This record gives sequence, structure tokens and C-alpha cells, in this order.
Amino acid sequence: MTDLSVANSASTTAFDVEAVRRDFPILSQQVNGKPLVYLDNGASAQKPVAVLDAMDRYYREMHSNVHRGAHTLGDRATAAFEGARETVRNFVNAASTREIIWTRGTTEAINLVANGLAPRLKAGDEILVSHMEHHANIVPWQMIAERTGAKVVPIQVTPEGELDLDSFNSLLNDRTRILAITHVSNVLGTVNPVAPLIEQAKKRGILTLVDGAQAVPHFKPDVQDLGCDFYVFSSHKLFGPTGIGVLYGKAQLLEEMPPYQGGGEMIERVSFERTTWNVLPYKFEAGTPAIAEAVGLGAAIDYLDSLDRGAMEAAEKALLERANQLVETVPGMEIIGTAANKVPVMSFKIAGLHPSDIGTLLDQQGIAIRTGHHCAMPLMDFYGVPGTARVSFAFYNTLDEVDKLFTGLQKIQRLFA
Ligand code: ALA
Repeated sequence: MTDLSVANSASTTAFDVEAVRRDFPILSQQVNGKPLVYLDNGASAQKPVAVLDAMDRYYREMHSNVHRGAHTLGDRATAAFEGARETVRNFVNAASTREIIWTRGTTEAINLVANGLAPRLKAGDEILVSHMEHHANIVPWQMIAERTGAKVVPIQVTPEGELDLDSFNSLLNDRTRILAITHVSNVLGTVNPVAPLIEQAKKRGILTLVDGAQAVPHFKPDVQDLGCDFYVFSSHKLFGPTGIGVLYGKAQLLEEMPPYQGGGEMIERVSFERTTWNVLPYKFEAGTPAIAEAVGLGAAIDYLDSLDRGAMEAAEKALLERANQLVETVPGMEIIGTAANKVPVMSFKIAGLHPSDIGTLLDQQGIAIRTGHHCAMPLMDFYGVPGTARVSFAFYNTLDEVDKLFTGLQKIQRLFA
């Protein structure tokens, strides 16, 4: 018999999760004959009706190209597109929409910044990242390092999955030029103390980039409060559409950086003798942008703003607490990443079971998780594992779903471990 008898201390919150779930039509389906339990939100989150409707309405009523000023539809599309930029500005508390650049996602945003900062780097300069970075915040820097002779240096993490602050302090030196750090680890769920790190970096004139991809689904960043030079995130993890993301950058730095791609929209004037760049933010937005996706992201943020943030965060905390309580009900289960400050993400292994088998067997029960290296191979090497199984909750998950996950894991463990 399944034992889920561990006391559930946090089962009551003010958050009406059933009402919220009705806003996400995809959640109410059966997968493999079982009600879908979607616990792969760290890879990509689901979309509320508000987002689907906003994009549908955009295409039905206002689609045209933006910034052409030629006709009424173009004006409507431009207003919706630039309105979404203002929504994002407000979401991250940037000083101006000039500092909000649309990209294809977090990865493109980091590549854009790395390329833009490359002219400032020379041989021997150092770029500090951490051992818990996703590949998107390692590889673009390695590519720039290759070009410039700079070096990518990792800050160590502790066995619990926290940043090793002694390692950070010992690595800061006169050659450090850039600190590029994740706000939240996609594997461990660790929330890094980025503000004090940024403060120290700034004192030494080091430029700072924060990868917020895994943070923004759980809390709102305040870029002015953090004081970072760049902050990046993707729409699809923030309950918005795929194909669009955001780069926040301080205006002065963006002004100084060369454009990333050439083409339409990013120019002021083109001639065969000399081409000049458009003003911010358009200087970094070559080609027709992802207009409907921007509108969808704006709708996702508006939707999140309509929810009670405090209650939402408490509900997420309750999910993680419940999961942590139930770990002892699965023999041989071990959590990877036990930091004190975590978002509701849980990586784990079960003795005798390969992570991909855990994923496949859970899927047969309608439960979706991610398994593998999670695009964080250096971190897998640190823990000496080829991969982990990872559960990543969103605010629309329920305590009942946590219980279903553990019932599933118990079953798998009994049959296969
Ligand atoms: N970076 C995404 C994840 O962690 C895809 O799953």
C-alpha cells in the first residue's frame, strides 16, 4: 500500500489553485489514459487562455508589420507591440523602454551581450560564471573567450548546491571584466544571492549579467534594485509564447555596444559608403520582430499581475515542502541540491534506477518530468552523475499532484530498483 502519510503542514493557502488551473486548458487532459500531471515547467511552462486569446485577437484584428506608419493596422500592431514592451519594462522595473530589447530568448540575449562586450576584452581578461550555469551562460562566453584570448572562470558551488562565496571572493581580481551568473539554477532550484555579488563586482568596475530564465516564473526581478548591467529571460518559461525573450540592458552600455545583427529595423540610414544605426532599442532588433509573441508575453505578465503574488509564492513553497517531506517514502531517493533558498525545483536520483527510465515510467502514469543533464554538464560532472530526474513545479500544480508523483515513484522503485 502506498504510504503518503507524512504530515502535510502546509496544505492550506489562500491561493485558489483550482480556479487558476481552469485558466490553463492544456492541464485538463488525459495522457496515457491518466490525468496529466505536468511537472516540467522549468523546461517550458503552460499558457493561460489570456495569452492564447491575446495572440488570437492580435492576428484576427490587428496584424500588420510594425513601425512602418503607413496605415491603421500597422498603427494598431505597433501600439500592441510597444505596449508589450512597456509591460515588460514595468515587470523588471527598468528605467526606460529603451533598455528593453526583444530577443528570441535567454540564449540569444546572452549571445547578443557576449558579442557586444567582446570588443572590450583582451587576452588574459577573465569572465566569471558559476559551476551551476546552464550551457547558455557558458558557451557564448567561451566563444568570445576564444576570439579575444580571455578566459572563462567558474565560481565553485558547495555540495548542497549553493554558490561558494569564498570561491567568488578569491576569484575576483584585476583581470575580471564580466560576471555572468544565473539568478536561479535550472537543475538545483537554488536562488543565488546575486545582489551582493553585483555590488562587489560594481566596486571593481566589473560588468554584470544575470540569467533570470528560471527566476522570473517564480518572482519578479527589480533590475534597478539589483543594479545589474544586463538581465535576461525567456517568455516561454514565464507562461508566454515560445520564440521571444527579453534583454534588459543599461542604456549607456547598449549605446556603446555594436549591433548584433544587421538588416531592416536596426538602421537609421543605409548607403554603400556608410550605414548608421537606429536608436535604442531598435538598434538590436534586426528584421521583422516576433510581434504576436510580444503581445502574448505582455498578456502573460498581465495575467500574472492579476494573481496574488504572495499567495502564489506560498503555494509554490507548500509544493516543495510537501515533496521534501515525501522523499523518505521512496527508498534510495536522494535530492541533488538542498540549498536553503530554493524555488520549487527538485532534482533527484533513485539508487538502481537510470533517470531516463524514471522519466519514461512516470510518463506512462501521465506524469511529465525532465531527465538528463539539463544543459548543465559541468554541474553533472561536479555531482558525478550523467544526469538527474528533475521535477519543476509551477503555481498551478497541486499538492495532490505532488502525492501522485510520489505514488508513482514508489511504484517504480518497488518494481524496478
Ligand atoms: N533550460 C531549460 C531546462 O532547464 C530547457 O529545462
